[in-house]
Formats: sequence, C-alpha cells, structure tokens
Amino acid sequence: MQKNQVRKAVIPVAGFGTRLFPATKVVKKELFPIIDQDGRAKPVILAIIEEAISAGIAEVAIVVQPDDKEIFENLLKNPPKKELLNKLSPQNQEYSRYLEDLGSRITILLQEEQLGYGHAVFCAQDWVQDEPFLLMLGDHIYASDTEKSCASQILDVYKQVKQSIIGLTTMPAEIIHKAGCITGVWQDINSILEVTQLYEKPTIEYAQQHLHVEGMSENDFLCIFGLYLLTPKIFDFLAEHINKNFRERGEFQLTSCLEELRQEEGMTGYVVKGKCFDTGLPDAYRQTMIDFRKI
Ligand code: UTP
Repeated sequence: MQKNQVRKAVIPVAGFGTRLFPATKVVKKELFPIIDQDGRAKPVILAIIEEAISAGIAEVAIVVQPDDKEIFENLLKNPPKKELLNKLSPQNQEYSRYLEDLGSRITILLQEEQLGYGHAVFCAQDWVQDEPFLLMLGDHIYASDTEKSCASQILDVYKQVKQSIIGLTTMPAEIIHKAGCITGVWQDINSILEVTQLYEKPTIEYAQQHLHVEGMSENDFLCIFGLYLLTPKIFDFLAEHINKNFRERGEFQLTSCLEELRQEEGMTGYVVKGKCFDTGLPDAYRQTMIDFRKI
C-alpha cells in the first residue's frame, strides 16, 4: 500500500444532534435536506459523500447509531420503491441509478454507545486499518473558491507533506470559543503551516496570548474547518484515552488526540480555499440552506 495514496474517508454521523431538537427526535441531522448547486434536494450526508468521492476517495465509511442503520441503508443501499421509481423524472431515475453505484462504495459501521466524536472515529479503526484517511464531520458541507474541491485540496497537500493535515479557516475572535483553534509557523504564507498547538474552544484572552499567528490580524484566528487527513496513528491515541477512560466534558474527544498525534508525528495546517457551511445549529442550517444553493 502506497502511503501517499488516500483511498478511504470516514464520516461519523452517530451523534444525537441535541442543538436541533425536537427536529432530531425524528430526523437525523445528517439526513436534513439541503439544496445543492444543481437545485437538487438531498440529505446533507449525500453532499458530504459526494465531496469525498469527487476528490478521488474510493471507499467511504459512515459511523451510525445501531437504531439508525436501517434508515441510512434505505438511503444509501436500497433502490427506491418500484412505485416511486416509476414516477420519477428521467433525470431523477438516472440519479437513482447513480445513487446505487455510490452505495456500493459505502460501508456502514456502528457506534454502539454515543461516547463522543473521538469515540465515533475510533469505531472506524478496523475498517481503516493501516492507511491514511480523510475524516469529515457529518454536519458540515463545503464549497470551494477554486476549481478544486475542498477535499481535493487537502488530498493534494498530503501528497506534498505526507503527514496529518488539518483543514483550517479564519474566524473572528468573537466566535472562537465555539471552535477548535490552532497556531503554527507558516511554511507557505497564508496557506500551509506547521502546527505547533491545537486548542479546543479557547477564550479570547487565551487565544490572544497563545494562538496568534504571525501576519494575521489581532482579531483573527485559525480554526478547524471540519476536514482532516489523518494517519492511522490517531487510533493509538484514541485507544489510550478510551482504555484509560480519559473523558473531556463526559466524552472521548478528538482534539486532544490530534494534539498528541501532532507531538508524535508533526501536523500540517492548511487554510482551505473555500467555505464551510455548518448544518448543526438552527440558524446556521437556515443560512446554509440559503447560501449553499447560491454558490
Ligand atoms: P457534534 O459535536 O456536533 O455532536 O458531533 P452531535 O451530538 O451530533 O450534536 P449536538 O452537539 O448534540 O447538537 C460532531 C460529529 O460527530 C458525530 C456527530 O454525528 C457529528 O457528525 N458524533 C458525535 C458521533 O458520531 N458520535 C458521538 O458520540 C458524537
């Protein structure tokens, strides 16, 4: 297996989506509809899978709650009911065939207990095995500012640096307390940097003291975009946290394991040329519905 070839992507979708309650009592947030650039209504998860596949990823695993397996299988593995299929327009019938083809590249994995984002990633260990993989959040969709999709940009940087990569975007100080932040040293100004620290949800004071990046405005910081390229070493750190029952805010988190991965193997930060749309909060979802279609 060539180490610079990335074939697999993992998308955890097993959370409860509490911030979108009560809608998430009946519909998983990853199944909420969005309207894509072609005007097609599709579940968020499909847009994420398509981003991965169009970047050249061969196989995608989604990590689901056991009770949700059937509904994801229905979307990704089963053809529509014959009565529905017959009524679809020729374009949608073609899209349905394409969906079946897409389904053959998707594996559904289970997270038996909802013990956090880091734990959900760990559930993909046996499937990923010893390969670098793309990790994508289940409640973010992307639009590139260039011809190359956001996921392809990350895969291209991996070919250059051959170490874990964290996709980044610039955020103003007022909202960084909700985000994962990093700091580092530019290798290629405003584009690629060597990460020297990762910090989850910093206060403005902490960020101003420790996370300022050279050349950036005092009020702007580099935050996690929701796309990561990780080496399989991440599973060692996740396993250690799980075995030692080391929880943060009651859950097994990814960010502290990313920091350990950085210390062991080094990590590259890449400022993605594109926009990241959050679908995990009511107003962010509403804005995504409006803006994603317009791009
Ligand atoms: P979030 O932090 O958004 O948590 O998870 P959540 O439960 O989905 O939503 P809120 O915060 O309660 O509103 C980030 C990603 O990790 C997945 C989620 O599905 C989402 O894609 N996740 C989270 C899991 O797969 N398992 C978990 O135990 C937690």
